[in-house]
Amino acid sequence: MNQIPQEFDQFAQQYRPDLDKALSLSGESSAYFAQLKVKKLAQWIPLLSNQEATILDFGCGDGLMTSFLKQQFSRAAVFGVDPSPKSIEIAQKNYTDVSFSVNSDTTTTLDFPDGMFDVVCAAGAFHHIPFSMHEGYMNEINRILKKNGTFVLFELNPLNPVTVMIFRRNPIDKNACMLWPWYARSLNSKYGKVRTKFYSFFPHALKYLRFTEPFMTKVPFGALYAVIMNKK
Ligand SMILES: C[S@@+](CC[C@H](N)C(=O)[O-])C[C@H]1O[C@@H](n2cnc3c(N)ncnc32)[C@H](O)[C@@H]1O
Repeated sequence: MNQIPQEFDQFAQQYRPDLDKALSLSGESSAYFAQLKVKKLAQWIPLLSNQEATILDFGCGDGLMTSFLKQQFSRAAVFGVDPSPKSIEIAQKNYTDVSFSVNSDTTTTLDFPDGMFDVVCAAGAFHHIPFSMHEGYMNEINRILKKNGTFVLFELNPLNPVTVMIFRRNPIDKNACMLWPWYARSLNSKYGKVRTKFYSFFPHALKYLRFTEPFMTKVPFGALYAVIMNKK
């Protein structure tokens, strides 16, 4: 997989409509999934809701999920970073209560001081990054996390057939490569204690079954999964 530098500049305007079209198979919108991830963070890191925390959304794109982070964790200082200057311009224009910045996608350096963040999350960013750079980014994320901080890697589950169909029909994912859950877990395991949680099992049409999902987080067929790493 070869990353085209600032690839997402070409999708910056079309990103939401293209994603919503691809996601229509699930009966839900991209905003629904962005909000769902933020709700999961609130469940998985309960202390975050009452804390003046610092949170980074790595690979934040147009900043929609970042803005939901600020809504959910209103006392937190929320930051978003992405290599696409056009996406960051859109994000900063729309969400003025978040600090957005551009990172390089040719080096793995992140321009934040050591131990700055309580939480770093990356939603669907790693499958757009060449595998050869994953470890470099993980080292940087670990560096900018506080001791006992948490990294949450949200990814698409290649074991779920609907996810695979959505991935294939989305033009944004043309150069992307999904991460196997065990690979995503192993990327994190050297930095701290790791949990994997699968979620989003039922499409909108079967939403009356969603009450069962909290009991299914170890079943590896949810449309999405997250690896949660608590830094040592
Ligand atoms: C599928 S989008 C997800 C955007 C956002 N996180 C969301 O959930 O809507 C993938 C994002 O990863 C970003 N990305 C690609 N390479 C990256 C890198 N080297 N560092 C950080 N982000 C990167 C892209 O620019 C793009 O905005």
